[in-house]
Amino acid sequence: MNAIECIQTRRSIRKFTTDSVPRKELEELVSIAQWSPSYKNTQPWEVAIVSGDKKQELSKKLVALLEERATPTPDIESPTSWPEAEQGRIDYLMNKRKELTGLDLTAPEMIVKAKKANFNFYFAPHAIYLFQDASLGEWSLFDMGLFAQSLMLAAHAKGLATVPQAFTTDYAKEVKECLGIPASKRLVLGLSVGYPDMDSPVNAYRTERSATEGIVNWME
Ligand SMILES: Cc1cc2nc3c(=O)[nH]c(=O)nc-3n(C[C@H](O)[C@H](O)[C@H](O)COP(=O)(O)O)c2cc1C
Repeated sequence: MNAIECIQTRRSIRKFTTDSVPRKELEELVSIAQWSPSYKNTQPWEVAIVSGDKKQELSKKLVALLEERATPTPDIESPTSWPEAEQGRIDYLMNKRKELTGLDLTAPEMIVKAKKANFNFYFAPHAIYLFQDASLGEWSLFDMGLFAQSLMLAAHAKGLATVPQAFTTDYAKEVKECLGIPASKRLVLGLSVGYPDMDSPVNAYRTERSATEGIVNWME
């Protein structure tokens, strides 16, 4: 698979087979993602790979927090409003998912259900958390985005699947405690990782993209 095909065919996967990924493969994903560029080559990324009993313990904790309606305190705040163009794309995605599943994902009870699925890492065999020192600035957060995309593309190229999940950082303090990550770190993103179950209807929908003309400005 070449780079263009890899970028264009990667997609978020939310149903996995039960097969675990060998440790060597997971380690290789990280070592490939380490070739991402970063501001002054600072490489401001750290990784926690969570599997087995630890993953179960973490999921149980997150679901319990959700059920007791604990207020989410992510290290990176969730946006409360969006500019018109971005909100339009969110509405489009939600409508499309409603059309396909018949479920209104904006309804409060559906949000709880969706969060539960996220906190179970969609039953993938592995979760990967990306974190960095909390004192790092916005460029480092940008660098982490590059690292995350590299990790997802490397996984895809190897026949693995991922989904990036902001929801899994809702209870950042508790996640860090559970995983032994110092409180001085910023929890940026959790991802589920495993082999895709492509027979599942959950994975059938391919998201779309806006027309390129709408985002490009030619200056001559
Ligand atoms: C920073 C970030 C946070 C996301 N958070 C979640 C999440 O919490 N749960 C989830 O199921 N998907 C999440 N997604 C996946 C997006 O919904 C998905 O990337 C988008 O709809 C485009 O679809 P695609 O990844 O299949 O191309 C997130 C993606 C990004 C980049």
